[in-house]
Amino acid sequence: MQSLERRQAIIVLDFGSQYSRLITRRVRECHVYSELVPATTTLAQLQQNPHLDIKGFILSGGPSSVYDEQAPSCDPAILQSGLPILGICYGMQLLAQQLGGHVAYASGKREYGPATIEVLDSTAKNRQNFRIFEGIAISPAQTEHLDLPRSETPLRLSAWMSHGDSIDRLPPGFVVLARTESTTVAAMASSQGLVGLQFHPEVTHTPQGKAIIRNFLFRICGCEPGWTASSAIEEALEQIRQRVGQERVICGLSGGVDSAVAALLVHKAIGNQLTCVFVDTGCLRAGEREQVVDTFSRHLHIPLVVVDARQRFLARLAGVIDPEQKRKIIGEEFIRVFEEEALRLAEQGGPIAFLAQGTLYPDVIESTSHDTASTATRIKTHHNVGGLPAEMSLKLVEPLRMLFKDEVREIGVALGLPEDWVWRHPFPGPGLAIRIIGAVDEAQLETLRAADTIVIEEIRRAGIYRELGQAFAVLTPLQSVGVMGDGRTYANVVAIRAVTTGDFMTADWARLSPDLLGRISNRIVNEVPGVNRVVYDITSKPPATIEWE
Ligand code: XMP
Repeated sequence: MQSLERRQAIIVLDFGSQYSRLITRRVRECHVYSELVPATTTLAQLQQNPHLDIKGFILSGGPSSVYDEQAPSCDPAILQSGLPILGICYGMQLLAQQLGGHVAYASGKREYGPATIEVLDSTAKNRQNFRIFEGIAISPAQTEHLDLPRSETPLRLSAWMSHGDSIDRLPPGFVVLARTESTTVAAMASSQGLVGLQFHPEVTHTPQGKAIIRNFLFRICGCEPGWTASSAIEEALEQIRQRVGQERVICGLSGGVDSAVAALLVHKAIGNQLTCVFVDTGCLRAGEREQVVDTFSRHLHIPLVVVDARQRFLARLAGVIDPEQKRKIIGEEFIRVFEEEALRLAEQGGPIAFLAQGTLYPDVIESTSHDTASTATRIKTHHNVGGLPAEMSLKLVEPLRMLFKDEVREIGVALGLPEDWVWRHPFPGPGLAIRIIGAVDEAQLETLRAADTIVIEEIRRAGIYRELGQAFAVLTPLQSVGVMGDGRTYANVVAIRAVTTGDFMTADWARLSPDLLGRISNRIVNEVPGVNRVVYDITSKPPATIEWE
């Protein structure tokens, strides 16, 4: 058991690769704590954190070339620290360049996508240099145990490549461990535990990637696999207690897993100093409000105030068609309702000093990363319901700041959050308002709720709810002609959206079975008044988004 005071950690330096956070996740999946930090972070800064027992570094890939004028580099003190370092892609080239090797544009030898790397047999004889490939066999199935004897056949591994530059001179003390058809240095290492990989071990397209990362953690850095998300609970509780003291905390529940787990943690830490607030915007799914009351008040005994603000929201939304306008209205109104409620609670039970939020690690990274979305265009305004009202001057408690979504789920389970909640699909803050195309009113909300309930029921019944990232119905203003019984109908079209996705940044439409789609369609047309046609959305993201508005 590792001490909570100081835990073993692998620091990932982010040079801007789209896979940077994936590296951090992969390390944590091996039960070693890992943090992603901007590339400019210095060793001295890292050493100021008394809780981190740094066992090694990973330098991520990145879009630059090491010989570019503005190319990001790594604090030399890190390279001289004597700690193991794994450089991936750009990280490997940086390692080579900063340690006295040379990198050049490999004209005609660029590699993007799958490649086969050949591990050089001769290098295997030096066990110290070869640790990164130790015990790895040709197929992942043979690689399950780290201590398997090494395969005698030359090792050829599939790997994911994405580079235009290559190392044409090794830094002193390094040997080449692997090559591809077009790269002479696909992997290199020194006996001091400095390793470079031209390919990406963190992506699933490199089947033995995880075993390679395990080798780095356990054979080279000497880590112990002791970290789990649940082991972070005690630490989180202590931090909350220290930060909050005797003050009161308010937490907005959104109905999603993040705010639920944040509330649970805060409640476990400080009990009834916490009050949760749930705002019924009128744009919720069927039964959602009841479920929140049931779970939080009755089941988990957490003080909860439900604000019925349906009329206010619907009045402001009346006649509004523009999706961004709807988001803006809902965001503003939400903050207003939340503020009023906080003031009321303060008048009743004393001042409130803190706002608890379910901010996750990816959000934190996003806002601190050196390549922050400054260049990314804003596609949609995302109002994080429960977001900090600007004028309220509440201090923040964010107990999930260092956690990924799946880790939050793990903690949710450990704290007794019902499974149903833990695995819920995300639901946007503006709710059904952005799933009704065009103006929103009570009648349409009723129609959409009924259709949405059927979609989710049938998907659960088919046993595929957890495989999907999100599934829901969209009510379109499009009317079409149909025939029911002996009569002509002229009613709305409902679209079904179901996607598979890892991070919601990209998504693919789910290949739902025709039978399942048939059942959903039949039930909606038969059971939901005002709908006579159902269509299935077969667009991926990009070019479409997951939501329709
Ligand atoms: P899109 O539609 O942009 O959605 O592909 C990506 C993810 O974000 C959710 N989403 C929102 N969440 N407020 C939120 O809290 C919003 O305004 C909002 N818009 C989209 C969406 O449900 C999906 O999970």
